[in-house]
Amino acid sequence: MAEMDAVKLMKQAVGRSAAAEVQSDSIIGLGTGSTTAFAIQFLGDRLASGDLKNIKGVPTSFQASVLAKKYGIPLVTLDEIDHIDIAIDGADEVDPKFNLIKGGGAAHTREKIVDSLAEKFIVVVDSSKLVDPLGSTFPLPVEVLPMAVSPVTRALETLGATVELRMGVNKDGPVITDQGNMVLDAKFDAITDPAGLEKNLNNIPGVLENGLFVGVASDVLVGEVKDGEASVRSL
Ligand code: 5RP
Repeated sequence: MAEMDAVKLMKQAVGRSAAAEVQSDSIIGLGTGSTTAFAIQFLGDRLASGDLKNIKGVPTSFQASVLAKKYGIPLVTLDEIDHIDIAIDGADEVDPKFNLIKGGGAAHTREKIVDSLAEKFIVVVDSSKLVDPLGSTFPLPVEVLPMAVSPVTRALETLGATVELRMGVNKDGPVITDQGNMVLDAKFDAITDPAGLEKNLNNIPGVLENGLFVGVASDVLVGEVKDGEASVRSL
């Protein structure tokens, strides 16, 4: 089996498992990324079949809004609700304490708002995302106001990171977030104090939010493939 097919199978399996945990009459945080996209699709399937009734979604990005509309999931804003029952979202890295790096899709600011509000936050990943410590494989995304890109880059370098302004794919120039900001990808050798770093980074003037999610996730579902068969385990 081609490597890409295996990854897709893992993402599909874990997306389906997370969608199966949602109950009728729920308000659901809808995450961003290719794994969550499968969960949104399976939620839509359950709604269409009548297995699930009266759900509402809170999108974490334009991507999540577009997918929710495509699959018939009614959307609400945070102004219209007073709680979120469950959120489903992907991650770029997960450590053994369920701390995360997110923001591979530049959506971590809205994701952190929505995922943090959820009574239960299920992380959906394939097995390649499990690391110890955080920072082992993925740079840490930092959303920055455009006028502050240079000073924030210098501040991140002082903290020991190698920093790159994220550039668009099929779009010339930098990635612009759903809020109109830019993203600096900060590669640290290892993030040994995620809680401390999360706070320090958000104290740099010009930083809107960083992709460290500390103590937010309640469950992690991991998709795996063996001999062409996909399976899901709960950490
Ligand atoms: C978007 C995210 C995604 O959840 C994260 O990048 C994982 O994406 P994928 O499921 O496509 O691997 O944080 O900002």
